[in-house]
Amino acid sequence: MPVFTKYAQFYDTYYAQKNYEAEAGFVLDVAGRFGPPPGSVLDMGCGTGRHITEFLKRGLRCEGFDQSSGMLDQACQRLAGQEVRLSQANLTTFHSAKTYDLVVSLFAVIGYLVRNSDLIAGFRTARRHLNPGGVFVFDGWFGPAVLDQRPEYRRHEYRRDGELVVREATPTLDLCRQTVTVQYDLEISNDGRVLQHISEEHCMRLMFVQEIALAAEAAGLEIVHCCPFMEPDGQPNSKTWNVCFVARSITKDDSAATERHLPVDGIEWIQQGDQVLALIIRADYEPVKTQFISPPTYKQQIGFVVHPKGGAIIPHVHHELVRNLIGTSEVLLIRRGSCCIDFYLQDKSFHCTKELNVGDTVALVSGGHGFRMREDTVFLEIKQGPYIGEDEKERFAATR
Ligand SMILES: C[S@@+](CC[C@H](N)C(=O)[O-])C[C@H]1O[C@@H](n2cnc3c(N)ncnc32)[C@H](O)[C@@H]1O
Repeated sequence: MPVFTKYAQFYDTYYAQKNYEAEAGFVLDVAGRFGPPPGSVLDMGCGTGRHITEFLKRGLRCEGFDQSSGMLDQACQRLAGQEVRLSQANLTTFHSAKTYDLVVSLFAVIGYLVRNSDLIAGFRTARRHLNPGGVFVFDGWFGPAVLDQRPEYRRHEYRRDGELVVREATPTLDLCRQTVTVQYDLEISNDGRVLQHISEEHCMRLMFVQEIALAAEAAGLEIVHCCPFMEPDGQPNSKTWNVCFVARSITKDDSAATERHLPVDGIEWIQQGDQVLALIIRADYEPVKTQFISPPTYKQQIGFVVHPKGGAIIPHVHHELVRNLIGTSEVLLIRRGSCCIDFYLQDKSFHCTKELNVGDTVALVSGGHGFRMREDTVFLEIKQGPYIGEDEKERFAATR
């Protein structure tokens, strides 16, 4: 069920008194304790853009996104004429070409990622957009406090342009799923005449420190601080409804693992015993340094080259040396669509199937392979030349 649809129109009315200026100050304070003073920020789930307004006032370079067009329209109006990029996107899939000193997700945005896979994907999005040393600050409903105090029915009245907006919030706690689903019912009236009714159901996960730390770790983040929201030095307790976390990238060195063909987050080795059929580098694999994934003996070398801004590669030519290669290896990068790749051993017996999506790269090292397209699909294919035509391969019937 989509959230923040018609409900979005009245969002700034309900939260007119919320102190975004103080919140931005708190976030910058807590971020600065664990990283360098931020000069840029990405707001994930920016809503109507009120935190961005405060960050801009403090001179930060800002970008924001939100899945709700209703919230985003208001952000665009609020920030019109300011240098800020806003887009409609989901936390689980958002990609920007830029990285930031600070990534934030404020006012329980992360709580909307109820499924664990979405939570990890959202955390990966944050990590992917962090500059080295940058931090991710987010908040949510603190599980122990919600279980202690229990969410309650609430009714509030607001005035907007002569209209009366009555908002009722009816929560249901699900102890097994560790969620609270809030049914929001809005009645908008003018002089006693009801103009519209709006209803939306918002399901939010509760946050427990160990669980959040585990999901963060799965996304390559470590939780470095946890405090009540707006109390940077406090300790969350059973009365802390709103908890804040600060996370940082785990800087890892994958070389030792890849040398031994061990899977690391984002790299999969397809192998039968010692025979490597392929390696898959997933779109979200993040290299932290220049590193070749393929062992030096491979006839095609696949790796990442990582340089800081301002770095350079000295001009060079390659020697005209002769290499003796046996067979053909290929590297495919999925530019568009999605497909299944079936792996076969050299004797043409079926081994396994993997799914490839946009941004995934597969290096085909040995054995056989066939593809089944799940969508219109485009690969970039790189293999050795010179090309000798059909004689370089033998086709066989799929035995999957
Ligand atoms: C409570 S509002 C907070 C908005 C803003 N951060 C603020 O502090 O006012 C939650 C926001 O999260 C957004 N949101 C929820 N799930 C999302 C998702 N999966 N991807 C992107 N935005 C999401 C909603 O559209 C909404 O704007």
